[in-house]
Amino acid sequence: MTSLATELSRIAGAAFAAEGLPESLGRVAASDRPDLAQFQCNGALAAAKFLSGRPADGSPAGAKANPRAIAEKIAARLKADSLFSKVEIAGPGFLNLDLSDAALDARAATLAGDKTLGAPGTGKGKTLVLDFGGPNIAKPMAVHHLRSTIIGDCLQRLYRANGWKVISDVHLGDWGLQMGQLITEIELMGIAPVYFDPNIVGPYPDESPVSMEDLETIYPRASAACKADPARLEAARRATVDLQAGRAGYRALWRHFVKVAEVGLTREFGALGVTFDLWNGESSVDALIGPMLEDLKARGLTEISEGAVVVPVARDDDKKPMPPLILVKSEGGVLYGTTDLATVIERVRDYDPDLILYVVDHRQHGHFEQVFRAAEKANLRGRAHLEHVGYGTMNGPDGKPFKTRAGGAMKLYDLIEMGKAEAQKRLAEQGIGADYSAQEREEIARKVGIATIKFADLSNHRTTDYIFDLERFSKFEGKTGPYLQYAAVRIQSMLRKAKEQGHQIGAPAIHSPEERRLILQLLSLGDLMAGAEEKRAPNMLCEYAFELAQNFSRFYSEHHVLSESDPALRAARLGLCALVLAVLTRVLDLLGIEVPERM
Ligand code: ARG
Repeated sequence: MTSLATELSRIAGAAFAAEGLPESLGRVAASDRPDLAQFQCNGALAAAKFLSGRPADGSPAGAKANPRAIAEKIAARLKADSLFSKVEIAGPGFLNLDLSDAALDARAATLAGDKTLGAPGTGKGKTLVLDFGGPNIAKPMAVHHLRSTIIGDCLQRLYRANGWKVISDVHLGDWGLQMGQLITEIELMGIAPVYFDPNIVGPYPDESPVSMEDLETIYPRASAACKADPARLEAARRATVDLQAGRAGYRALWRHFVKVAEVGLTREFGALGVTFDLWNGESSVDALIGPMLEDLKARGLTEISEGAVVVPVARDDDKKPMPPLILVKSEGGVLYGTTDLATVIERVRDYDPDLILYVVDHRQHGHFEQVFRAAEKANLRGRAHLEHVGYGTMNGPDGKPFKTRAGGAMKLYDLIEMGKAEAQKRLAEQGIGADYSAQEREEIARKVGIATIKFADLSNHRTTDYIFDLERFSKFEGKTGPYLQYAAVRIQSMLRKAKEQGHQIGAPAIHSPEERRLILQLLSLGDLMAGAEEKRAPNMLCEYAFELAQNFSRFYSEHHVLSESDPALRAARLGLCALVLAVLTRVLDLLGIEVPERM
């Protein structure tokens, strides 16, 4: 269904057009001052400017048109429409608009019958490739990948709901120096000599010589050794180059790393309820890199700089120095930027997307700027708009990137467990679920724990750093995930009771200011989803959900629902509750938050 603001913009646009003015001036939006009006249209002010520049009546250009006089004319036309219960002119020529309750009721009934709950359809016919998650397979997934995963998954859900075809790619870090570091460390450990014997080219064992737990200890050791010893670093570099060049034993060993890591990662992403369409990685474009380099060279787009192959991407108007994108290092290895550039080619070839979003830590801004410029310069991006969706850091109470108590990087799995444990504590405090089975209690705690972490992360604007404060995030009051789950569960249980008592659920209808406010908010969901898409801003969904829960609780404390004796009124109120529940559940689902059956 068309959103209310869109519908009203069309009506106001027609009024402007009838006055010989551009239709686009009729843009109507929710009012900045909900205490004064539901909607506003500021077009008369722009119309006055428009007329002063290009007078319609032939008077000399620059003659002042009066915005208030224009607003009067528009208002007279709008007043003739029974849709409006109020058309007022404020200040220099703002139009303040209210809709009649009958008009709102009719649209609420349509919304209740709309399976998409007013989704805006902004993505119809459009394709998005969404790059998020991005863990590195040598290392256990750490909390800095958590934000990418949570924000990316929310965007994946939102864009799909808005009608986009979304292809999500976890884009594993599986091809850089870290691979060479692992390989050399394993060689030194002597645990799998067959992969290093130059006389053997396979077949190699099916069984991996290392487990995920092994990798978790091997990598930090290798990385520390390379920091301390230049010879070790050199060996790791050489192993990386050999791996990329296709040395059979290294490739076989590397395939084990990838497989082992994928099992662990699937478990962690699964625990968060996050899925990907593609499990590609930096290595996936290996075959494209050679031809890409040839092509760029042939077209004169590359240069040699200190032995490395680079694409200069600086522009005259750059305020800051912009280093070239390095494609091949002097010793022959390819880099992060090389695989990212080749991945643009791959994605354009395979999906011809309208948009590619990279949900990656904002500290990588420079990297993406280089890659995007190179893709632009070499004309590789097809019709896709490339955009880095950056985000800030999750900090500990000390204001530094979140760490475990022991000072190490917190693993995602442990963090989820922490969230769950905190939820268990809170639920017990609230006396929730004391009479449920242990299994159900555990399931509720899992959902609440994940909601705690996700909502805390998504409710901040993604670019701001925030302090991880489990104590605050897990509260059942205030702007938290558990509060919203609880709000939804309460409506669920009320509707269950209504069913048990045999009550009718009718179409929502306005009988009070609280109901009017709720219905107006419900009808704005489509615009909210479109706005959150445009700004890539999950926090807008969080705000909306919180406000909805608050508006609902105001309504619920003022009015009888189950205890209402007038059956028609009760049915309308139950209908409103059902619609609030549907919308709240929908928005929570977009945030990746599940609502328990009961709490
Ligand atoms: N693996 C990278 C990291 O941990 C993130 C990958 C992001 N995606 C990309 N196409 N570069 O920093």
